[in-house]
Amino acid sequence: MSTNLFNEFSTYEDDLLKKYEQHVLFTNIQKLTDEEFLDVLTQYGEGISANFVKFLETALRQVQNVKAQEAIVRILRDEIPAVGPTHQQMRSVACERVGIDPITLASTKLTEETQNTIDLYYEFICNPNLNFKNRDLALTTFVRVIGESLVGVVYKTFTQELVRRFGVHEDEVEFYSFHWHHDEKGGTPFEGGEIGHTEYYDVAMMDLLKTEEDLLETKRVGDIALEIRCKFQGQFV
Ligand SMILES: [Fe+2]
Repeated sequence: MSTNLFNEFSTYEDDLLKKYEQHVLFTNIQKLTDEEFLDVLTQYGEGISANFVKFLETALRQVQNVKAQEAIVRILRDEIPAVGPTHQQMRSVACERVGIDPITLASTKLTEETQNTIDLYYEFICNPNLNFKNRDLALTTFVRVIGESLVGVVYKTFTQELVRRFGVHEDEVEFYSFHWHHDEKGGTPFEGGEIGHTEYYDVAMMDLLKTEEDLLETKRVGDIALEIRCKFQGQFV
């Protein structure tokens, strides 16, 4: 186990998050028309969010490291909790609150770029020929960065913009505020938990990171995750 290597990765990840915050979609979000902004929420939601559970399960079935498996399973359980609404149900309620009715939302056609983004998510975790040095580490890093830490940045921006633009309270768009606070790095724990979603992966990554070469691989994977996200968002600017 290497705490030092993990800390180095974590510092690198902080820089990725800062770069992501500067994406022009986020810095110029107030300039979008309501229609454009809702279109972003729709493509993002129906393309990326609605596919998240299947994507994560597909990673889970391949990862061998027990600590990584445990982290992924905990996150999957949070997505569809035993009590209360599922997260996708919460998303639909939040979108309805700002004027997108659930049937319109669910029947939205994905753009070519959104579909391409979904394909890139799966290409990374399903292509057996990608020649990772340590496949468990690469997949764990990928689902952490693309599925949690970067997501915290997205939902922080979306929540703040929903509140500003539509005058709603955070609680009325709970899907977005909830994922902002629980997914962002250093975020707040889920009920009954002690850490946020990004941190669920800390122990697994410390377990998997053993060499400088491993560290380089996690940095490369982080770069790819950011690149996929930025490419997706490029369609809206
Ligand atoms: Fe999460």
